[in-house]
Parts: sequence; C-alpha cells; structure tokens
Amino acid sequence: MRFFIMLLWGAAMVFAADGQFNSVSSPDGHIQVKIKLDNGRLYYSVNKNNQQVITPSRLGLKLKKQMNLDKNLNLDEQQLSSMDTVWTTVWGENKKIRNHYNQLSFVLSHNTGIQQILDFRVFNDGIAFRYRIPEQKGLKQIEMMDELTEFNIDTESEAWWIPAFAGNRYEYLYQHTPLNKIDTVHTPVTFKTANGSYVSVHEAALTDYSSMTVTRTTENKLRAYLVPWSDGVKVKTSVPMHSPWRTVQIADRPAGLVESSMILNLNEPNQLEDVSWIQPGKYVGIWWEMHLEVSTWGSGRKHGATTDNAKRYIDFAAEHGFDGVLVEGWNIGWDGSWMDNGEMFDFTQPYPDFALREVARYARDRGVRLIGHHETGGGVLNYESQMQDAFDLYESLGVRAVKTGYVSQGQSIKRVDEQGSVHQEWQHGQFMVQHYRKVVKEAAKHKMMLDVHEPVKATGIRRTWPNMMTREGARGQEYNAWDPNGGNPPDHTTILPFTRMLGGPMDFTPGIFDLLFEDAKPDNRVNTTLAKQLALYVVIYSPLHMAADLPENYEKRPDAFQFIVDVPTDWSETHVLNAEIGDYITVVRRDRQSADWYIGSITDENGRSFDINLGFLDPDREYIAEIYRDGEAADRDSNPYDIEIVKKRVTADSVFSMKLAPGGGLAARFRALD
Ligand code: NOJ
Repeated sequence: MRFFIMLLWGAAMVFAADGQFNSVSSPDGHIQVKIKLDNGRLYYSVNKNNQQVITPSRLGLKLKKQMNLDKNLNLDEQQLSSMDTVWTTVWGENKKIRNHYNQLSFVLSHNTGIQQILDFRVFNDGIAFRYRIPEQKGLKQIEMMDELTEFNIDTESEAWWIPAFAGNRYEYLYQHTPLNKIDTVHTPVTFKTANGSYVSVHEAALTDYSSMTVTRTTENKLRAYLVPWSDGVKVKTSVPMHSPWRTVQIADRPAGLVESSMILNLNEPNQLEDVSWIQPGKYVGIWWEMHLEVSTWGSGRKHGATTDNAKRYIDFAAEHGFDGVLVEGWNIGWDGSWMDNGEMFDFTQPYPDFALREVARYARDRGVRLIGHHETGGGVLNYESQMQDAFDLYESLGVRAVKTGYVSQGQSIKRVDEQGSVHQEWQHGQFMVQHYRKVVKEAAKHKMMLDVHEPVKATGIRRTWPNMMTREGARGQEYNAWDPNGGNPPDHTTILPFTRMLGGPMDFTPGIFDLLFEDAKPDNRVNTTLAKQLALYVVIYSPLHMAADLPENYEKRPDAFQFIVDVPTDWSETHVLNAEIGDYITVVRRDRQSADWYIGSITDENGRSFDINLGFLDPDREYIAEIYRDGEAADRDSNPYDIEIVKKRVTADSVFSMKLAPGGGLAARFRALD
C-alpha cells in the first residue's frame, strides 16, 4: 500500500491578491483546476490537457438573514495535500481501489467575519469540491437559502438527462439533447463536449444535506439547485458543517466514466467492524407476477404472498442455489390505495394466508433466506414509528436483506414539525436524505442489508455503510410490464451505465425469459432479445441481483437459465472494453471467488458486430468460453427468443467475435481450466 501525504502551510502560502489565479493539478498532470477571487467573488475553472472543460464558474453559499457568503470574500490561507492509497472494498465491481489525488483547501473569510473552507480534490479521472463552515463564534444553526455553485460546461455539448421535480422521482427515460435544451435535471447528468470529452456532474457522500439538481440559467449556465424543504429553506444544519462533494468526472472515452471510482473515493471508509454478514448474492421472488397482474399484493383470491406460493419459490431457489426469496405483499396494508397512503402499512402483521414464521423456517432449512419487504407508500412517519420492531422481527427470523420502497408522487412526503403542523416534503430533500440514512443505520444494527426502491440517488455511501447494497432510482424492468407507452426502449440500458449507474449499483431486476407475456399483458413486452437479458447481469452492476421472472419460465429454458445460476455479483476487477452512450457497451468482470471472467455486451435497436481482444484473461491459463449469444435470426422485435449457446476453448491471445442482434446482447462465462 502506498501512502503519501504532504502539507504545506504558512506565510509563503497565504493567498495572493484578489484577481490572481491559484491552481492544483491531478497526479498525472492532465487535469487542472484554477481558482480565482475576483472582486470578492470566487470562481473555479477546469482544464484537461489544456482544453477548457468548465469555464469560470461561480462558487458560494447564501445563508438566511442576508448572509451571502458568495461575495465580499477574502482568501486567508491555503493548504495543499496529496493522497495516494489503496483500499479494499467489502464488495463491488473491484476489490482494490486506488485513491489518488491532490487537494487544495482555502480558508475564506467574509466581511461579516464568517469563515468557510473550500476543499478541491483533483484526481486523474475528475475533480470534486465541497464547502465547509467550521465551528466559530456567533454561528450555530445554519439555514442555507441557496448554493450558487455553477458548472459551466461548453455550451455546444450534448447532454443525457432526466427531469427533476417531475413527480415520478428518477423514473424517466433519459433525454439526449443539446445542452441548451435542458431545464432542471437530476444528477448524474452526463455531457459530451464539442471537443469530444465525456463529463458527468454529480455529488458524492450525500449524508445530511438536500440533494443537488442542476438547472440551466438564461445564459446557458448550469447551476446547482438544491431540493428545498417545504418552507423554502434548502439546508438546515449547524456548525461545523460540510456539503457533499460536488463532482465532475472527466474522461476521454465513455468507458472512462464507468471505470472511475472517484465517487466511492470521496466517501468515508467503512464504519462497520463486522462485515461477515454482508453477502452479495442473487434472489428470486414473488414480485414479477404482481407486476404482470397474475397475482396481487393485496389480500383475496389472487393474493401472491401465500404460504404455498412462497414455499414454491423457496424450493426453486434452493434447487438452483439462490440466496434469497423476496416476498412482497406479505403484510397488512396493501388493500385499497396503498400508493400515496403508506399510513396503512403494518410492518409486523402478516396477512392470515401467509405464515411468516413457518415460511422463514422453511427457507432457512433449505439454505435460503427470506428477503424482507417494507413498502412504505411514502408514509415515512408510519414506517419510522415501527422500524425498530420491524427489523427486530426480521432479525429474529434470520432475514438478512430487506427491500424497502417509497412509492409516492412529487412533493408528498408527510412531515410533522415540533408544533404538530403537517408539511409535505420532496422525496429528495434533506428530510428524506436524513430518513434514508436512519434506515441504513437501523438496518446495520440488525445486521441487515438494504435494497432501496424509490431511493434518494446513489452517491457512494455504500463505502461507509456497506450494508447499503443496491437501490432502484431509475426506470427498471418493471416498466416493461405496465408502462402505457411501451416500456423501456432498447437504448435505455445502454444509457444507464453512463448516467444513473455512475452513482452506484442498481436493482434493475433483469432476467425476464417470457419476453412477450402475451397471456398476462398482451399490450406490453420486454424490448430485448433473450441473450440481452442475460448480458444485463454483467453490464448493470448490483451486489444483489434478481432473477426476476417466474420459476416456470426458467424451467422451460434450463440451458439459458444456467448463465443466471452461474453469474456472480461480487467482482475483483471490472473493465469496459467498448462503449458509446446510448448505442452499446461491453463490460468484462473477474469473479472475486475464482479465476473466471464474465462478459456482457448489449446494443440498442441496431445490430452490431465486434471483435474483442481477450487480453484481459490470465495469460497463463486456458478457458472454456460458455457463450450465450443472439441466434442468426434474432431480433428483439420479430424474433427475440432466438439464442445460441456454444462452448469453445480460448486464451488471452484469442480474438472473440461477437454479433449482437437489433436490441440484442451477448453474455459469456470464461471458465478457467486448472
Ligand atoms: C415499486 C418497486 O419498484 C417495485 O419493485 C415494487 O414491487 C413495488 N413498488 C411495490 O412495493
């Protein structure tokens, strides 16, 4: 492990006069951040290889009572430091991660005497900065009214974005437009600049702050827009405080964005001493059948979560080596309109036709664990009042993972203040960020892993809380079952890796084999080939991956199902071999538990052929490539089930030819021979 830290302090480092630049570069010297104080206002800009990535952009905070910390600033001191260390992940896409950056921190004083600190970190794959307000006389509680951070990207850039404040949380199809067509968008928001750089703006370590959206101002500038509390305040905090890191990932190729670990590096190290109970894995569950309306969450004749049905899934899981069985709709509260009315959910009372203890025991006896489910319907106060009992119950049953859910629309999360008044909060404001963190902590106390649906976006806190396994936070597979506009188009999953997934893992729930489900929902379908469903297990990273289809659909295709049985969810290395945002991506990952490698390659609506160099394989080994590829006649539209499963011997010197059908994909396991 290499570790090097350098501190330079003192009179010689006192910042020079107003109007002068100061700068800090990445360890490899390619990226440079310049910081300038101009008439008491602070600006930063970013260059890569002498090309401007971010043109001069304002920095600053506005606090309540006219304390605008964005002007009348003086630079008092600066501190330069460096870090170069390698840390080991508890689980993830890579086992070892290098954290290598140069940091420049500025102490600034405002003419009211208030002090703040700005930390800039420059990595080889991007830059990050955050605001800090240290402890100081006369300042305790802070109500932040605005953050003026700008990200002035080249105005000729293309952007991939989803709208913020639009009701359906993060569940929108990504738009690909010129930068000047975006309004207020969620992060990660990704750009291709006119000179061909790939840039993504996001945040890291969102722990007790409101989340940042980005808005375009009239002059085509991009500005942070923090999700407000219902009273308009953006952040309520006290000193000492620090903001999340504002991040700008920069890469020459789209692959570089995906391979970057900058977001994780900006989070605090693991807080949990014992992590033996944190185990990535795969699960099946009583889930897709409700989305297909074959069964219901609510009670009655079609109730999905019955004891017998759960046992059927458990038997299937045990037979095929799955770790968990999710059961949704097991508890009282689903009858009636549960969306937007989470007050009815009881998190410890099963429906009478679901023998919770018996099912949990049945699973444990077969080496499988029940995966718990807490749908809150956005009734956060109701959930918080039962949370401890709910986790106690699951812990007593040997449950190790809980899926939570917060289906609700827009600004509809109920909060009651100290005076008893009721307020409606956004799902992504500070109130909810605090709630999500409470749940992660409570879950950790009970040795419980989390899979959060309708979450706040991923910002890398899985490093600090490695029981925060996966989350939704985008349009997942479920849209294919019921979206009135035809589900996810074929390019959706070729955009996710470069946008949503830059924040962290996603519970996309791949693996639908009955792609047309004509009996259940003739007007919907999955817009991929069968081979693409398999490839998604490798392309979309999640430490908990679901085999989402019904057991009977897997039983009809045991050959193709074998890939889902084999594919790991914890990796020692990950590389992106080729990619173009919205067109295609090919990912290879090495299993953390063996010398095997896996490949997943997916395309949009266009068919493609690639020759891949297998140089990533161990040069001293031979491998059997078990390949699951689109058949000659495969086409997601007209012939989605055509799949060829072939085996062949390969080495690191082999060239691997791939042909992906329109809307198709390829998955393969490279099984290392001894
Ligand atoms: C939405 C979630 O994304 C889905 O997975 C779940 O089945 C339903 N809410 C019900 O909790």
